[in-house]
Amino acid sequence: MKLFDVYPINPINIIKGQGSLVYDDKGTAYLDLYGGHAVISIGHTNPHYVKRLEDQLHQIGFYSNSIEIPLQKQLAEKLGRVSGKEDYQLFLCNSGAEANENALKLASFYNGKKKIIAFKKAFHGRTSLAVAATDNPKIVAPVNETDNVVFLPWNDEAALEQAFKEHEVSSVIIEGIQGVGGIQVTAVNFLQKIRSLCDEHNAVFIADSVQCGYGRTGKFFSHDFAGVNADIYSMAKGMGNGFPVGGIIISPKIAPSYGMLGTTFGGNHLACAAGLAVLEVIEQDNLMQNAAEIGDYLITELKKFDQVKEVRGRGLMIGIDLPEELSNVKKDLLFKHHIFTGEAKPNVIRLLPALNLTKTYADRFLEAFDATLNNA
Ligand SMILES: Cc1ncc(COP(=O)(O)O)c(C=O)c1O
Repeated sequence: MKLFDVYPINPINIIKGQGSLVYDDKGTAYLDLYGGHAVISIGHTNPHYVKRLEDQLHQIGFYSNSIEIPLQKQLAEKLGRVSGKEDYQLFLCNSGAEANENALKLASFYNGKKKIIAFKKAFHGRTSLAVAATDNPKIVAPVNETDNVVFLPWNDEAALEQAFKEHEVSSVIIEGIQGVGGIQVTAVNFLQKIRSLCDEHNAVFIADSVQCGYGRTGKFFSHDFAGVNADIYSMAKGMGNGFPVGGIIISPKIAPSYGMLGTTFGGNHLACAAGLAVLEVIEQDNLMQNAAEIGDYLITELKKFDQVKEVRGRGLMIGIDLPEELSNVKKDLLFKHHIFTGEAKPNVIRLLPALNLTKTYADRFLEAFDATLNNA
């Protein structure tokens, strides 16, 4: 059997990781500023994480949601404390798309309405409703097409107000920082406007925090910079540091009922152990503060390069917008300097490293970036 060939692949076989470094099968070390797409939040093979998962595996890895799983309650309690949303309710699933799918569905159960407002260049995942709310027709199959989703220009308050006049809006879904869309920081005024319009019209404000959340920006949710709460936050990626864990946290105003949402794997023992280990390390090692500090440092230094068109982002979610003639930089960083970075079309380098990235590694990147620009 062959693999279903849907990914353009770099010819590198990573077999080991430690902290912010990964190693290929030839023993070459790479600096990982990509985190396997914002997934590695506390560093590869963090010892506390490995031990917690190992210990749990020796106890029990999985049982279904038909029994009590105290680890879920521990995770909910810890997540409430670390995120500052203590009165919210947690529903666990396995991925970002699934988290958004559940959020959109829950909103519609809550207010009985159908229309979803999403934004240009948004990415929310590949399941049916999540992909329908994603502004990329290439990944929307005919069966996913629906007129329940209205796409609006991003950060446009007048268009948002107009849409609320024209439609019975069930929910508004928005990333605090568009990731796939090229690291675009949503304006705080715009998030505040969403909050007030949702309140006025009994619509649900969904904060897609799958990529920009979990402490990456220096606040637990990047939407927190606006000083208003969303009704539902969706999470995944950094939540399990590589173990597939996703979830939504839900405002107390939305009441649950049996059967409303459900999952086989979500919230299993091993996933909860991974989720708890991540939060324990984030808390103990002050990783949000580190993300804010190292992120600020990188953004300040990157802005000094004349060749860069724009540097965008917050904390350790950074986009370096390069002109067309520097389209080779990402490849050079990887193959000449052994540094993994992400990308966004047309020519943005995305930095999404572990939240405990050190200044030494930040400097190593800056030197390599400088060398790459000067040899371009
Ligand atoms: C903002 C955002 N939402 C949702 C998703 C989908 O997450 P997953 O790939 O875990 O389904 C992604 C993935 O990149 C994302 O960046």
